[in-house]
Amino acid sequence: MSLTDPSKRLQAIPPYMFAELERKVAGKKAEGIDVISLGIGDPDLPTYPHIVEAMQEAVAENGNQKYPSNRGREEFRKALASFYARRFGVEIDPETEVIPAIGAKECIYNLCFAFLDPGDIALASDPGYPVYTGGPVLAGAEAVVLPLVPERGFAPDLDAIDPDHLLRARLLFLNYPNNPTGAIAPEGLFERVVELAREHEILVVHDHAYSEITYDGYVAPSFLATPGAKDVGVEVFSLSKSYNMTGWRCAAILGNADAIATYWRLKTNIDSGLFEAVQLAGAAALEGPPGPLEEMGEIYTRRRDLVVDALREIGVEVEAPKGTIYVWAPVPEGYDSTSFCEHVLEEAAVVISPGSMYGPSGDGFFRISLTTPDERLTEAVERMREHLS
Ligand SMILES: Cc1ncc(COP(=O)(O)O)c(C=O)c1O
Repeated sequence: MSLTDPSKRLQAIPPYMFAELERKVAGKKAEGIDVISLGIGDPDLPTYPHIVEAMQEAVAENGNQKYPSNRGREEFRKALASFYARRFGVEIDPETEVIPAIGAKECIYNLCFAFLDPGDIALASDPGYPVYTGGPVLAGAEAVVLPLVPERGFAPDLDAIDPDHLLRARLLFLNYPNNPTGAIAPEGLFERVVELAREHEILVVHDHAYSEITYDGYVAPSFLATPGAKDVGVEVFSLSKSYNMTGWRCAAILGNADAIATYWRLKTNIDSGLFEAVQLAGAAALEGPPGPLEEMGEIYTRRRDLVVDALREIGVEVEAPKGTIYVWAPVPEGYDSTSFCEHVLEEAAVVISPGSMYGPSGDGFFRISLTTPDERLTEAVERMREHLS
């Protein structure tokens, strides 16, 4: 073993599947080819001005420049509680049922360290946000994936979970509206999840990263609005995508007070809290006018329709998503995820994500992110139409 070898836990994390694609993209760019990336889900739209202004004011104040407390600023916790009451009809005690997180990603990783031991299992959706499987492995536990397939509306088949896995499961990760499939929570799923969690003493972690990005009049509910949900679960709420704040690292965990106390206990040993100026800007985001969110919704709807129409024209049978910033579509016959994405890159100089990046059940699909300015997205779609028809 060499002195720079990664730990066995780190080695057990699957290699980053985009690496080879990135190498090819770099090669193309070096040849002077204009590559358009529809890969990553990082909004191109700017953070809303009232949030930036709140940050500018907060950052200048000496009191906000000190170590933050991990428990969070009262203003932010209260803003989150009022937002949850107003938006989801969920009552949150700002004293015990919410604390800030440095992004949903941090929160999900740390939940794994707070609740999992070797021998434990975390149940995670497949395809899914990679942290649901990487987090448990880094924590020395095991991730068992639950396939999400179109035939079931991308809901996990809870009755098909191996009883031995249920015995050992301590966490269940869910995420609706869902990355990468764009699916919304099917009717009755959250109620079934609460029953299962109660019966098998599993802590449910619902990742609500895309709560405010939905289409065609659909309004995404909070998992915590399900009767009994607060007894068995927490929700991770992120401002990254809905408020165009991916770079700010601003999120929170809400719900079961005991689970939040455990997460807090771990977190105080690991990091020093979320910058208080960011927390105040987060409060301004949640208390701000609805106009910018509505405008964002119109932009994503326009882009979603552009992509869906173009894909249908070239023979891809795609469902228009009801939420998120992604279009999830089956690859044409004769390809798997990786070979199709490579083909699109070679022929059209457009980067799309292979579905297999998100888990074995994602093979046979690809994901297009809508976070590219309209003109570039139109150009990308035109190229795909021209080269793939
Ligand atoms: C489902 C899901 N959860 C969490 C995140 C990360 O959120 P944050 O920026 O708050 O860490 C992402 C980002 O792509 C995501 O897709």
